[in-house]
Amino acid sequence: MLLEGKVVLITGAARGIGRAVATVMAEEGAAVGLADRAPEVEATAAAIAALGRPAAASVFDVADPAAVERGVGEIRRRLGDVQVLVNNAGIVNNIAPIPRMTHDAWEREISVNLTGAFNLIQAVVGPMIERKWGRIINVSSVAATGGLHNQAAYAASKAGLIGLTQTATLELARHGITCNAVLPGLIGTENVQQMPQEIREAAVATVPAHRLGETREIAYLIAFLASERAAFINGAAIPIDGGFGLNTLSLGSRKEVAAATRPQR
Ligand SMILES: NC(=O)c1ccc[n+]([C@@H]2O[C@H](COP(=O)([O-])OP(=O)(O)OC[C@H]3O[C@@H](n4cnc5c(N)ncnc54)[C@H](O)[C@@H]3O)[C@@H](O)[C@H]2O)c1
Repeated sequence: MLLEGKVVLITGAARGIGRAVATVMAEEGAAVGLADRAPEVEATAAAIAALGRPAAASVFDVADPAAVERGVGEIRRRLGDVQVLVNNAGIVNNIAPIPRMTHDAWEREISVNLTGAFNLIQAVVGPMIERKWGRIINVSSVAATGGLHNQAAYAASKAGLIGLTQTATLELARHGITCNAVLPGLIGTENVQQMPQEIREAAVATVPAHRLGETREIAYLIAFLASERAAFINGAAIPIDGGFGLNTLSLGSRKEVAAATRPQR
């Protein structure tokens, strides 16, 4: 098992990618701390406990540094020092072109998606430095490298996570700590399944793999990055997107997209 005896903390673990990461890490032998602002995170903890692994849930807002300190303290008391941190909590509900995006919406998205990760790193990194071992994985997005129409705050927050990841690596690598970012493409979470079918299908057609990713596929990469085997991967920003970032504007690719979106008779 990749994570036997390790204490991990995953934010945004009530559902979606975070829940899958928690489950896969438990299957790989970890004791799992789960954080979310949604009380449903208790159900993820119960499912992990049913797998026979130690689990502890804490309900807090990652954007609130004092609440993060309290929540991380609660997890530490129940499971021990956090050795692996997965910054996964994120929001994606602020959709507006730049001239109409409100300052409040901008601030909130940056606070949750970017400052939240900073808050968590600050709260767990002391004991990692003392133990000379730690893993930090930040869940960014393909939007970090290509932008996203009408989602300036989201794309900026996810690009900011890459700068945070790289700087954490520069500062922490000498303490035996790695920090990496994963950049998922379109993954079949509740959010994505609720998109209008037409938009979802058009997006899927531009993915060379012609399908949505699965939450467990993201979780397998994160579990590997958290393991001993990934010790020399540091400061990386790793796309996991079925080839979404490749050149889909070439003539051959456009013909394939047209064929994939053509209505079937
Ligand atoms: N689903 C995708 O296609 C996709 C693609 C790229 C990146 N991502 C990123 O992956 C992560 C997970 O995405 P998902 O689709 O599973 O999202 P989701 O909305 O299904 O789950 C996110 C979880 O984070 C929690 N959360 C939100 N704000 C919080 C806060 N302030 N404090 C604590 N918890 C909070 C929510 O309650 C929820 O349980 C996000 O960071 C998202 O940006 C997702």
